[in-house]
Amino acid sequence: MDLSQLEQVEHDALAAVGSASAEDELRELEVRFLGKKGSITSLTRSISELPKDQRGAFGKATNILKRAIVDAIEARRTQLVEGNVSAELEDMTFDVTLPGTVATAGTMHPLTQVQEQVEEIFSAMGYYVLDYPEVEDDFHNFEALNIPSDHPARDMQDTFWLKSGHLLRTHTSPGQIRAMGEFEAPFRAIFPGKVFRYEAVDASHEHTFHQVEGLMIDREVSVAHLISSMTIMLSEIFGREVTVRLRPGYFPFVEPGFELDMSCQICSGSGCKVCKQSGWLEFLGCGLVHPNVLRHAGLDPNEWQGWAFGMGLSRLVMMQYGIDDIRHIMGGDIRFLRQFG
Ligand code: DAH
Repeated sequence: MDLSQLEQVEHDALAAVGSASAEDELRELEVRFLGKKGSITSLTRSISELPKDQRGAFGKATNILKRAIVDAIEARRTQLVEGNVSAELEDMTFDVTLPGTVATAGTMHPLTQVQEQVEEIFSAMGYYVLDYPEVEDDFHNFEALNIPSDHPARDMQDTFWLKSGHLLRTHTSPGQIRAMGEFEAPFRAIFPGKVFRYEAVDASHEHTFHQVEGLMIDREVSVAHLISSMTIMLSEIFGREVTVRLRPGYFPFVEPGFELDMSCQICSGSGCKVCKQSGWLEFLGCGLVHPNVLRHAGLDPNEWQGWAFGMGLSRLVMMQYGIDDIRHIMGGDIRFLRQFG
């Protein structure tokens, strides 16, 4: 064995690597030259058979050769990969006139849009926007609102009772009691949310719908202020001057209580099918907070007064868009909802 053998291996290896045309071939060459039974390995093994004074030079030369083969294989591999990529790019066609994929964006539910609008209007007037539980107890939903258990007004709202004795709130009014317990008077707040009634569903009744309750507590409040606040809110929402009128209405938690009507937004008050030719739409309940309610919430009625209102958000959306069936609102039909983008 001598150095010429090394030269022969070097010559064969570099020629084979240089002409390899696929990565598979390179892997085979790795086995053939560098593997356990490969040429370099047997050369290294045979070093011990050499005369001692030649071993050093031979060993060194073998290592250099091994390195050269490893490098050559690596270099060829890179070349092949790059070649594949550019061949692929050359084959590829790209048609700039093809229509792109349209990204479909969701839209805010009309109820959410109106709720946010109401929240903005009242926040700007210094109201807190509060969120209270949908599962309530008898005390907050009825008792504290001046509706004792034998009170006929309980029949006005059919209730989903839970096994625990709790209930799904039938209105957002229990928030009044919670807010008075939570905040130091004077304060003003609105509480939007879902309410539930055990009712047969038809075009104007849903078992689940949305309300916004409002409460103003101060030393002296007036119906005049209530009327002006409602007028401001409605004019802002509809983007034009809206007029309101009050009729006496009975709600146990207010005294006096009112039904508030607004000028019909469909016919501007001249009379149409929607307002049954009256020019007015029944819109919300309101009034001055009953002294018993203040007392239940821990406020002294001789020191504090309040006014409150409760309105249906679903109803507001229906009036805004001329929707005639409440079932569309929570129906979840995407074709309906897309119209509010
Ligand atoms: N809670 C009543 C309902 O759901 C609406 C209501 C009426 C709320 C008068 C009020 C109010 O705050 O003063 O029918």
